[in-house]
Amino acid sequence: AVTRTFSIIKPDATKRNLTGAVTKMLEDAGLRVVASKRIRMSREQAEGFYAVHKERPFFGELVEFMMSDPVVVQVLEGEDAVKRNRDVMGATNPAEAADGTIRKEYALSIGENTVHGSDSEENAKIEIEFFFSEDEIVG
Ligand code: CMP
Repeated sequence: AVTRTFSIIKPDATKRNLTGAVTKMLEDAGLRVVASKRIRMSREQAEGFYAVHKERPFFGELVEFMMSDPVVVQVLEGEDAVKRNRDVMGATNPAEAADGTIRKEYALSIGENTVHGSDSEENAKIEIEFFFSEDEIVG
């Protein structure tokens, strides 16, 4: 079925002017950008978005990183979008990412790993609603 997922092009990528290159890899994987905006995350947004990781040792570093430069938040649509996106992103740790994936190509480290993608349809819905209103999504 055609479904939606949520993606973030992270600060390490926007800083290196890779917004287009990353988006092209998403599009080439069969995903369609149906909403997109470039924002600078506030502390409230970064902490709220990653609240599930609050107790992790890297939480502070993660929040600071996500605020350090602009990000591009996107809604992606396609056949089985969550899985399709996770496949093209590659493993969280770029050292473990498969050839041909975004993180293999561009990620710098497990923290500066170029993209975020929802890990389930349920979280996709929550994450989309965190950053977008329905009228901003144009299929
Ligand atoms: P993301 O998919 O955005 O979800 C949580 C993020 O935490 C993850 O990508 C990584 O960028 C980051 N992360 C996970 N593990 C570590 C780690 N050990 N050190 C720093 N950041 C991490």
